Amino acid sequence: MVKITVPATSANLGAGFDSLGLALAYYNQVEMSEDQGVHIFSEDGVAIPTDESNLIYQTAKSLYEKCGKPFCGLRIVQRNRIPLARGLGSSSACITAGLLGANALLGNPLARQELVNMAAVMEGHPDNTTPAFMGGMVTAAIENGQVYAVKQQLPDDIQFAAIVPDFELKTADARAALPSQVAHKDGVYNLSRAALMAVSLCTGHYENLRPAVEDRLHQPYRIGLIAHGRETVDQCYQLGAYAAYISGAGSTLMAILPRGNDSFVPQMANWLRERGLSGWRILLLEGDNDGAKVEQE
Ligand code: HSE
Repeated sequence: MVKITVPATSANLGAGFDSLGLALAYYNQVEMSEDQGVHIFSEDGVAIPTDESNLIYQTAKSLYEKCGKPFCGLRIVQRNRIPLARGLGSSSACITAGLLGANALLGNPLARQELVNMAAVMEGHPDNTTPAFMGGMVTAAIENGQVYAVKQQLPDDIQFAAIVPDFELKTADARAALPSQVAHKDGVYNLSRAALMAVSLCTGHYENLRPAVEDRLHQPYRIGLIAHGRETVDQCYQLGAYAAYISGAGSTLMAILPRGNDSFVPQMANWLRERGLSGWRILLLEGDNDGAKVEQE
């Protein structure tokens, strides 16, 4: 049996659409062993598919097939802390767990880099899956199925407040809201800011983060899909965030905070309550610098 622990992730970091992401100390856990047939359990009551459509199962099976190994079935036990369809990398966590688990059960025939490549191809972009594997803040590009990435250590003088709405936003819907073409000047606007984020967050240039999360490729088109999203981002700045952005494809809004801003969470909770948004959750999170872990028993 293998146990896999995978961190939540927050992709895009504003302007770094499909390119930047970071890992958060908030984890899904999966136990996986070979078995005859499909035996899938949710240990925390979160509703997940328990048939062959289960993403961890499908991903693990595809790795067996890629390696040319006979596949009879799996027993999978999931603990799903990462909320589903909220822009915190829940599907990436499943893909990462499926690949790492199956690879471990087969005696690790594939190197981690190959798993990182497979995960990014399955997800369609490398900005969630790569930090899920590596931890830290990751700048990544994919070229012909190969991920080229650099991981940087997240500093410990910042924290992350994930403001999680009580509604889902499917990545497919959030991507369908995007235009098929953008103006050249908007491309330039974004690449300068994504580059600024890539060098500023992990080097402590926090004064750059607010302009760095400004973007013209996805957030202007998605924020309208998140009721109260725009005003929540504004409120993050009122309460002292260095930066606030749509996490991944949403619906979560992410604030990057100076450590020691102890008033942010209670004040944001009050503000949400006053607007009748008491179903929203605020998760105050540390960065994860280790990435996914596998234990074999
Ligand atoms: N970069 C992706 C997006 C992340 O924004 O659509 C979601 O998986």
